[in-house]
Amino acid sequence: MSGREIKIGLFGAGNVGRHLLAAFREAPNVNIVGLWNRHPAKWKAVAGEIPVVPEPEQMPDADVFILALKDDVLQNFSRRLSGRDILTVHTSGAMPSDVLQTARRGVFYPLQTFAPESRVEWERVPLLVWASETNDLTLLQDLAGRISKNVRIIDDRQRAQLHVAAVFTSNFTNVMMQMARAITDKAGIPYELLLPLARQNFENILNNNPADVLTGPARRGDVRTIEKHLRLLREMGLANEAEIYKELTAWIRKRFDLDK
Ligand SMILES: NC(=O)c1ccc[n+]([C@@H]2O[C@H](COP(=O)([O-])OP(=O)(O)OC[C@H]3O[C@@H](n4cnc5c(N)ncnc54)[C@H](OP(=O)(O)O)[C@@H]3O)[C@@H](O)[C@H]2O)c1
Repeated sequence: MSGREIKIGLFGAGNVGRHLLAAFREAPNVNIVGLWNRHPAKWKAVAGEIPVVPEPEQMPDADVFILALKDDVLQNFSRRLSGRDILTVHTSGAMPSDVLQTARRGVFYPLQTFAPESRVEWERVPLLVWASETNDLTLLQDLAGRISKNVRIIDDRQRAQLHVAAVFTSNFTNVMMQMARAITDKAGIPYELLLPLARQNFENILNNNPADVLTGPARRGDVRTIEKHLRLLREMGLANEAEIYKELTAWIRKRFDLDK
C-alpha cells in the first residue's frame, strides 16, 4: 500500500541529498517536485527530468521540504522558507527540530553513513522521524515507510544522544583503522594483513555483546605487552596514537575492574 502521492522539495546535493534522491526515485508514489543546491551544477548529472530551481524561494509547493544541508547553515537557510506553510525537515542527528525557522518543522534522520559512492540498502536504514504536530509526524512516518522498513519516532534529545553513539560506531572505528594503517605504513608492512582481523572482529561484535568478545593485552591485563606497545609507538613517532592507546587501555581496565 503506497497511499496518496507525497510531493517533496529536496534541498542539498551533498552525500545525503544525492542518496535521498535515489531512494525517493524508487519509492512508490513519491513525486520530487524540485531540487535546489547552492551550486546548482551539482544536480546536473542526476536531476534528469526534475527541475533544478535557482533560488530556494522558487521551490514549487510540496508536502515536505527536506533540507539535507550542513548542520551549521540550517537555521539561517530555513529563514528563507519561513513564509511557506510547508512541513520543513532537516536530516541531522545532532540538531534539534526547532533550529528550523519555519512554522511547521520536523526531522527526517537516516541513521547510516553516506559516502559519495557507497551503495545504500535503504530498506534497512533506520529512519528516525520527529515533528511536534501529530499530522506532520504521521506524514513523515508515511514517507519514511516508503523507503525503509525500519522507521522510528525519536525525539530531539534521544536522537542527539543516539548521534553520539553513532559517532563511536562509525567515525571512531574508521579512524581506529586509519591509525592502524599509519602503523603498518611506518613499519613497511602491508595494511591488508589486518583486514581478515577487522572482518572477524566485526563479525564477533555484530553477533554478540561486544564486551563478551573483547580480547587483547588490556583485557588480559598483560602490563608488559602494553608498555612495549607504548614504547614502539613513541619510537615510530606516533605520540598521539600512544596517548589514545593509553586512554583506551585505561577505559578497558576500568570497564573490567582490572585495577582491583
Ligand atoms: N553523511 C552522512 O553520513 C550523514 C548521515 C546522516 C545525516 N547526515 C546529515 O545530513 C546533512 C547533510 O550532510 P551531508 O553528509 O550530505 O553533507 P555534505 O555532503 O557535506 O553536503 C552539505 C550540503 O550543504 C550545502 N551547504 C554547505 N554550506 C552551505 C551554505 N552556506 N548555504 C547553503 N548550503 C550549504 C552544500 O552545498 P554545496 O554542494 O553547494 O557545497 C551541500 O549541499 C547534515 O545535517 C548531516 O548531519 C549526514
